[in-house]
Amino acid sequence: MSQGLVTMSYIAASMLFIFSLSGLSHQEKARSGNVYGMLGMAIAMFATVMSDAVSSYVIIMLAVLIGGFIGTKAAVKVKMTQMPELVAIMHSLVGMAAVLVGYANFIDPTSLLTGVEKTIHEVEIYIGILIGAVTFSGSVIAFGKLSGRISGNPVLLPARHWLNLGLLVMSIWLCMQFLQSAETGGGTWALLLMTLIALAFGVHMVMAIGGADMPVVVSMLNSYSGWAAAATGFMLGNDLLIVTGALVGSSGAILSYIMCKAMNRNFISVIAGGFGTTSGGPAAVVEGEVKEINSHETAALLQDARNIMIIPGYGMAVAHAQHTVNEVCKLLRDKGKNVQFGIHPVAGRMPGHMNVLLAEAKVPYDIVFEMDEINENFPEIDVTIVIGANDIVNPSALDDPNSPIAGMPVLECWKGEHTIVLKRSMASGYAGVDNPLFVHEHTQMLFGDANDSMQAVLKELQG
Ligand code: TAP
Repeated sequence: MSQGLVTMSYIAASMLFIFSLSGLSHQEKARSGNVYGMLGMAIAMFATVMSDAVSSYVIIMLAVLIGGFIGTKAAVKVKMTQMPELVAIMHSLVGMAAVLVGYANFIDPTSLLTGVEKTIHEVEIYIGILIGAVTFSGSVIAFGKLSGRISGNPVLLPARHWLNLGLLVMSIWLCMQFLQSAETGGGTWALLLMTLIALAFGVHMVMAIGGADMPVVVSMLNSYSGWAAAATGFMLGNDLLIVTGALVGSSGAILSYIMCKAMNRNFISVIAGGFGTTSGGPAAVVEGEVKEINSHETAALLQDARNIMIIPGYGMAVAHAQHTVNEVCKLLRDKGKNVQFGIHPVAGRMPGHMNVLLAEAKVPYDIVFEMDEINENFPEIDVTIVIGANDIVNPSALDDPNSPIAGMPVLECWKGEHTIVLKRSMASGYAGVDNPLFVHEHTQMLFGDANDSMQAVLKELQG
């Protein structure tokens, strides 16, 4: 394929990626956004394989087959609740690729660069490996935390901020050493030492972040993986990889900012780790009477209600209850009730998790609202059904300054007339914090798997 055709294909792929991002930011257009992304990626891969950069087609075809096989297997096998872990481990692969490409470039015997061009290339290699190694180890730890293999509690080393600063200063010094030694064909030791430091930094950074701040880490690593891809693009002289990496890097950074705003967190504090884990005294102990309700009584309350709010959380994803929830919602709307959904920005385990599940179950978009749009309406709500949510409806985030989630905005459902919480036990949520909502005077607990409970309520409503 001629260079002109390759460039044109890259431009077309870049445009498709931009359309894809734009589509993915609206629920109605998300499906077409995905199609644009897939099309863009297919064009990008085809043009790259057909370009002058590739000479050994057998190796490429083998790599495509092996990668395609593993990717398809993982995509078919993964459950919706495991998506965040899959995304985290994918990010780690982008980081690892950047590190490997960096080292391959460093030891490339065919490189003919000299003078300033050589120095620029070495800086690209150094930065590429640095970002790649942080992304790799940080994503592996995030994978461990999201999948429950590593405890979600923050690990706070003494003087951790000084430690981070020390690692940063050391990396800058090593960069200078690397550039000096590389002139005479050396520098391997500096590169290797920096890689170890970057790997340690990635582990330390994510280990120090507490449970409820994990959403920011997920989007931040998404951003890092984009910058790692862009760095790889610089090393390989591939414009499309630079553009795509920058798109992913900047959109991930914007998402991190949105997440921080939604959680009332300061971005720098979250990255520095351990933010919001304690503010001095112990968190308040939750005491009070737990009032149980059964499916018959729940249906009766819903029959009498005019305004109904449904708050889905991670438990709805675990129970696969979204389809039953949609059935109940349809039935109630047919009976003339005003049913709305309230979505917390960090509900579930990945950005937009609840929106995806509700869209899959075909819940109409126009009754699904973001937290900010409906949080003031709770005093007018007759019945709120909380389905497998916990941290996102925890009043201690607002009332208890010593709570690990203090300051995080939550859905204030306790202001409504009745709140019914569907969950299996009194266990805490992801952040490991007790929830006073469960003993609030307006709250009743419907214990059991969320799907079973919703099925039972559906039957009662139909009966
Ligand atoms: P959580 O606070 O994790 O609470 C989920 C609740 O669902 C649990 O208390 C659990 O109680 C219940 N549950 C689990 N399986 C169930 C089932 N089959 N049927 C009924 N209930 C079930 O979830 P949330 O309220 O959605 O809050 C999200 C949390 O995850 C936040 O702390 C957030 O910071 C964190 N997080 C979010 C993200 C993103 S990007 N969204 C990423 C990482 C972490 P039982 O065990 O008693 O049933």
